[in-house]
Amino acid sequence: MTLHALETFISQAAARSRERTEPADCVLVLAPLMLDLIEHAGTFLQPQHYRSDPGNYTRNLIYKAPDESLSLYALVWLPGQWTPVHDHGSWGVVGIVEGVLEERSYVRLSPDRGADEGIELARGGIVLLRSGAVTSFVPNPDHIHVTGVPPERPRAVSLHLYGRMMSSFNIYDVGAGTRKRVDVAHNES
Ligand SMILES: [Fe+2]
Repeated sequence: MTLHALETFISQAAARSRERTEPADCVLVLAPLMLDLIEHAGTFLQPQHYRSDPGNYTRNLIYKAPDESLSLYALVWLPGQWTPVHDHGSWGVVGIVEGVLEERSYVRLSPDRGADEGIELARGGIVLLRSGAVTSFVPNPDHIHVTGVPPERPRAVSLHLYGRMMSSFNIYDVGAGTRKRVDVAHNES
């Protein structure tokens, strides 16, 4: 058992993200690191990173930077578990360790990106991410999406690196055309 892959990832991710202020530049250099990291996930993921909850998908913290400028989580998705429609207000890089993670995107049609009301969303495409795949997103305009696993597919496990502590995100009520900031829970390591 070695933590080498995780330690290497964290030191490189911290250095590369510190050098770059543009979110699109961050994900460009961090996505290849995530591709390597998930290949070695078996060497550093511990039983506590696989915790799950029959009531909701589970966010297990793996690492947070001392200044909270980076955070890495293992998310565990049991069959039928989904996020609400949300965006992160941050860049993020996601790698799939186990199963197939599905992401359904939404496109904001209403022009005022800062508004919390009068939001018109259209359903966009979906992506199916198998074990070994990496995806990413940037804010402004925000990447609005739903992520999860349909009931007919088995558990999925994914690693998520963000450019801040991901302790809150924006959730959308598509029918009402509104969004609000909500706190999201995670398990400490
Ligand atoms: Fe998300």
